[in-house]
Amino acid sequence: MNDLFLRACRRETTERTPVWMMRQAGRYMPEYRALREKRTLIELCKTPELACEVTLQPIRAFQMDAAILFADILLPLEPMGAPFSFEKGEGPVVHSPVRTRAQVDALRVIEPEELGYVLEAIRLLKKELNVPLIGFAGAPFTLASYLIEGGKSAHYDQMKRIMYGDPDLWHALMAKLAEVVRKYLHAQIEAGADAVQLFDSWVGQLSPRDYVEFVAPHVSHILKSVEATGVPVLHFGTGTALLLKQQREAGGTVLGLDWRTPLAWGWEQIGHDRGVQGNLDPTVLFAPKEIAISHAKRVLDEAAGRPGHIFNLGHGILPGTPVDTVRAVVETVKAYSARS
Ligand code: CP3
Repeated sequence: MNDLFLRACRRETTERTPVWMMRQAGRYMPEYRALREKRTLIELCKTPELACEVTLQPIRAFQMDAAILFADILLPLEPMGAPFSFEKGEGPVVHSPVRTRAQVDALRVIEPEELGYVLEAIRLLKKELNVPLIGFAGAPFTLASYLIEGGKSAHYDQMKRIMYGDPDLWHALMAKLAEVVRKYLHAQIEAGADAVQLFDSWVGQLSPRDYVEFVAPHVSHILKSVEATGVPVLHFGTGTALLLKQQREAGGTVLGLDWRTPLAWGWEQIGHDRGVQGNLDPTVLFAPKEIAISHAKRVLDEAAGRPGHIFNLGHGILPGTPVDTVRAVVETVKAYSARS
């Protein structure tokens, strides 16, 4: 087994920097589009054999150093009592946005077995993979943003109306989500996940003060518990330059950095006693290959060969990304970071 990724998470010295890319399985790959043509995203997620196949596609195509389970952060919402669908051009839509006390009380704290198809996909993958498998879940703030706003949002006004205006209701919702996510990540680890990532994609909406008051206790409830298993935990967000110290306190073996945060500066904020993951701008992959390669080298230069860096994008890979550029960046990272 190629365990570079796990060793880097633990800040051990490695022969080279491990590389994978967030959302590495998806629409930019022709193999994915071929499978997806005849099925919905949810069908792919709910069929372990297909979820397994899609997870393997970027491993075969690019020899990534880690696989991320093919699933979606929103999957727990349906059994909790908040059904959603993916609408063309709109992204996820939660059918009845959750905004009242009665609706929050009605949400169920589900057992992870209700997402048994995800756990089954993990068990299948463990038989196929020769690189570590990353499980994942959405963080409470990011999940709450879809639940309350009903989909993607520009200003998060409904969410913040509750957060500022009815903190008791806010904390009740966040606590329920946190408990669901905590159990779900534990179940993924029991099923065989070698590491887990918590996606708090939209938390950069908050000031450090509000993060500490409204989010940190719930993230910490999840991360401290999951970290106790000894499995590496990656804690990711975007727009978080001013939240890194607070996120670090909330937990995580490795902290994610987006592309707006200079890697060297961000790592200093977090402290070199934690690992970092990132942080190539995903849109750089649309530039000519040579330019993308030079940006990838700059990211590695900023990490300066320090143990504990995992090369990744600063956010998920975008549809339309040229496959050849992805391959060239992966090869560059492997060659340029090689240590004698
Ligand atoms: O390789 C992988 O990482 C695939 C597994 C994965 C998916 N979603 C599959 C997916 C992961 C890790 C996610 C996480 C996820 N889902 C996040 C956090 C990561 C981030 O990018 O911030 C979020 C916010 C979601 C919610 C979500 N799912 C959105 C906003 C969308 C919409 C998109 C759109 O472009 O229409 C999805 C759909 C989704 N989830 C796709 C994939 C591959 C799109 C592909 C498709 O429709 O076939």
